[in-house]
Amino acid sequence: MPWGHRKARMLCIVMMLNFICLFMGLLWKFGNNSQKKIRIPSQRFWHQKILSKSFWNKEQECLDMIHNPVFSSLFSSDSLFTLPDWLNNTGPLDPCEPDYRVQTQILDYNTLPQRFQDFLLHMRCRSYPMLINQPHKCDVPPFLLLVVKSLTPHFDRRQAIRETWGRAGLLSNRTVVTVFLLGSTSSVDSFPDLQELLDHEAKLHKDLLQWDYRDTFFNLTLKEVLFLQWFNKHCPRAQYVLKGDDDVFVNTLRIIDLLKGLSEAEAKDLFIGDVISNAGPHRDQKLKYFIPESVFEGQYPPYAGGGGYLLSGELALRLYNISQQVVLYPIDDVYTGMCLMKLGLVPERHVDFRTFDIEEKHRNNPCIHRSLMLVHSRTPQEMLKIWPWIVHPELDCQ
Ligand SMILES: *[C@@H]1O[C@H](CO)[C@@H](O)[C@H](O)[C@H]1NC(C)=O
Ligand SMILES: *[C@@H]1O[C@H](CO)[C@@H](O)[C@H](O)[C@H]1NC(C)=O
Ligand SMILES: *[C@@H]1O[C@H](CO)[C@@H](O)[C@H](O)[C@H]1NC(C)=O
Ligand SMILES: *[C@@H]1O[C@H](CO)[C@@H](O)[C@H](O)[C@H]1NC(C)=O
Ligand SMILES: *[C@@H]1O[C@H](CO)[C@@H](O)[C@H](O)[C@H]1NC(C)=O
Repeated sequence: MPWGHRKARMLCIVMMLNFICLFMGLLWKFGNNSQKKIRIPSQRFWHQKILSKSFWNKEQECLDMIHNPVFSSLFSSDSLFTLPDWLNNTGPLDPCEPDYRVQTQILDYNTLPQRFQDFLLHMRCRSYPMLINQPHKCDVPPFLLLVVKSLTPHFDRRQAIRETWGRAGLLSNRTVVTVFLLGSTSSVDSFPDLQELLDHEAKLHKDLLQWDYRDTFFNLTLKEVLFLQWFNKHCPRAQYVLKGDDDVFVNTLRIIDLLKGLSEAEAKDLFIGDVISNAGPHRDQKLKYFIPESVFEGQYPPYAGGGGYLLSGELALRLYNISQQVVLYPIDDVYTGMCLMKLGLVPERHVDFRTFDIEEKHRNNPCIHRSLMLVHSRTPQEMLKIWPWIVHPELDCQ
């Protein structure tokens, strides 16, 4: 549509809206003669938007505005309107350039721990090149895709998973495919160079996905988002996804049994795990999960502990979509909870997802392990010991 037409149309729409409002107002005022006087509220009756002082919240308010369907058409590049200043302040055009706004917009930036400075500077970047890909992994869409967050040096953990709960192929007459998610471990973080070994492993097993970004704790959210991108592109028809750490033990048999029993309606919005509710940011600098007020304020939505959770492939696609409207948050499982909340969903708690482990006295009990879905944490040797308990039919657990 030519420029002029578009402007004219927009003006028309605005004028018509005005007219309708006026008409309704008149109706309201004169249409009800039987009524007494009109009461005019003495105070402002709408909710005034209070802009947050914390950086993450501010960024999210901007994103909300940009994705608001009413405003987004007004603010499109060829519209009559320009963004208000506070909204048109979204940093460098290329989101993968370091965003130096943070140094001035976050008052205590210079005293924040280094990991925050690193996170904030690169918070807007969500695209990193893939170093190792398996684009054909899902050519035959699996029933269950096992997705394991790993780190380059954890060769033994990955191998133990391949030999036990993550064995790809047919299990209980359902197809299982496994992939491991990796960033890159560079000398910046004092890692030895293991890339050649990793390349070899990738050739051998064809189950590694690696992206070129620093594999740190605060970049786990990036790992999540990059995985969702990959899933959307290369594995969108997998029926279910189990996402876990490389130090959890998953009872894949029980997971499949649970999934087989789901109705279509239950399957659609499936998201279960060890759910944490009523949590909020820790303000103690010494804690791993510390978040300063200048970065985030507010409570966390209910979220499933990142050790492991189970969801439908369909929901993973919706999560991918909505994640583009949620500013990256340095704690990955909280971030996923935020995305779910935006979709209007709440993760469901399942007692057999034990990301805080089981009682010490049960840890050598085969039958207890048979009844669990997921338990954290187990070493590679423990995994090899536990797996036979799960699959041996002669073990009687009645
Ligand atoms: C007129 O008055 C009735 C009852 O008092 C009310 O339900 C209705 O909404 C009013 N209509 C308008 C146009 O204000
Ligand atoms: C944002 O601001 C820049 C200059 O400050 C201006 O050129 C641009 O048109 C503005 N964008 C919108 C959508 O208002
Ligand atoms: C295996 O699963 C397929 C569907 O995935 C089903 O058609 C077939 O009947 C199942 N076979 C057995 C032995 O249960
Ligand atoms: C995340 O990865 C990017 C790309 O390698 C890096 O620039 C940034 O410093 C990393 N962030 C953290 C918190 O480690
Ligand atoms: C995701 O968004 C795209 C484009 O907006 C849309 O075509 C697709 O249907 C969405 N997918 C889901 C699962 O919501």
